[in-house]
Amino acid sequence: MSTTPDPADHPDPTDGRRVILVSNRGPVQYGREGGERITTRGAGGLVTALSGLGRQLQDGVWVCSAMSDEDVVVARESPGGQYPPELGDDRLRVRLVALDPDAQDAFYTVIANPLLWFIQHHLYDLNTAPNITRRETDAFESGYAAVNRHFAEIVADEVDAAGGEAIVMVHDYHFYLLPAEVRRRCPGVVLHHFVHIPWPDPDSWRVLPPAVRNALFCGLLGNDVVGFHTERYARNFLLGCQELLGLPVDLSAMEVVVDGRVVRARWYPISIDPALFEAMAESPAVLDQERELAARRRDHLLLRVDRTDPSKNIVRGFLAYDLLLQDHPQLAERITFLALLQPSRQDVAEYAAYVERIRATVDEVNGKYGTGTWRPVELHLEDNLDLVLAAYKQFDVLMVNAMFDGMNLVAKESIVVNRRNGVLALSENTGAHEELGAFAVTLHPFDLQQQADALYEALTMPPEERRDRRNACVNVVRQNDVAKWLQVQLADISRAAEA
Ligand code: G6P
Repeated sequence: MSTTPDPADHPDPTDGRRVILVSNRGPVQYGREGGERITTRGAGGLVTALSGLGRQLQDGVWVCSAMSDEDVVVARESPGGQYPPELGDDRLRVRLVALDPDAQDAFYTVIANPLLWFIQHHLYDLNTAPNITRRETDAFESGYAAVNRHFAEIVADEVDAAGGEAIVMVHDYHFYLLPAEVRRRCPGVVLHHFVHIPWPDPDSWRVLPPAVRNALFCGLLGNDVVGFHTERYARNFLLGCQELLGLPVDLSAMEVVVDGRVVRARWYPISIDPALFEAMAESPAVLDQERELAARRRDHLLLRVDRTDPSKNIVRGFLAYDLLLQDHPQLAERITFLALLQPSRQDVAEYAAYVERIRATVDEVNGKYGTGTWRPVELHLEDNLDLVLAAYKQFDVLMVNAMFDGMNLVAKESIVVNRRNGVLALSENTGAHEELGAFAVTLHPFDLQQQADALYEALTMPPEERRDRRNACVNVVRQNDVAKWLQVQLADISRAAEA
């Protein structure tokens, strides 16, 4: 955890100031159904984690991208934002920002995903990719930098309207340039940035031209505090400041000095609201799904739940399962690998190709081992939260074999609601492994045989050991819940404001 005092020392950390949240994906998304406007609450850890914040604030605004066509209509109708009733919160205004479609495309599908995402998750095979061409450098300027500037202007307007003082909380890799721009315009603000994905070693950034990587680091250094999930990512960030920008860094205080200002690097492992997941897991729709799943389940249920993102290592997971079935033929007909995968970023070529590789690999494994009565892998490519929750309750082993993953909330959500003393099989390269690794079976994401052996160990573990391990995991998640994640950050913000 971050080296901060008890948050109880700071009962009102925002001090009545306006809090401006900035993220690409916002808490609600609008659509149209049968001629009517419909609203869906945003999914994902970031939205869940921050939605509790509104209740603690006197004056909050969440600035985010208009993603759907209907979002754009809403953005035009209410440029100053609105209070979506779905949030159940009349103090958190949501301000959707409609972007020029070309700029948005360059920002999202060329720079943020894949370039930054791939670098930060070590996904490039550097022998073949990326080729940085004028397409990328232009997209950086006309897309990424332009969108960051546009958002910075809106944030600055919100700060001015609040009298020049505010707390700005920026989220993720879409907005690395924004903090320096806001600081230049509004010197009175406190700026805090949370990076939800891994921060790699300094050399990984050398894939980018010096002007681009320096701009990203300098943009982030506009913050007072830069937060990560783990101490390792925070240290990597400071080492990057030292090696790439030549700045003086103090690794024991976890600080860097830039233009006479101190920027702190901190770590706050993101988490979930356990009570919320427990309640959702009892909804009638989930119970229906669970009954259906329980009726057709075999002796062993191996589960994975992921976005179809290459970083999640889904294909290698199926290859490891192939080895498991090959090494242990007695598992035939007695196990199902249920893969609940949500299609993600299908407008990015690498992501569309990845879904095809997933389908092909599943067909191969099912073709090799399947029988008239048994499908070894059951693949669902859809977003079905009720089924996910039902499967969380029913799994015997949950596979998370991500190559690199900032945290991985699936591990935390699933273990809390599981009813079968399920075992986590957890990649050592996830942020969650720092908290839960001692009670999980560790997976080495590139070692297929190790993964197959570890899955077998998890599937055949004695019942008492399964129970003890699960209880230990649940205790960790309950203690480090999302409320704590937020409180510790607000305490750091409060200290930064006093400094
Ligand atoms: C990760 C990122 C988030 C992002 C989410 C879904 O969790 O850290 O910033 O919103 O993936 O990705 P998408 O591109 O669909 O917003």
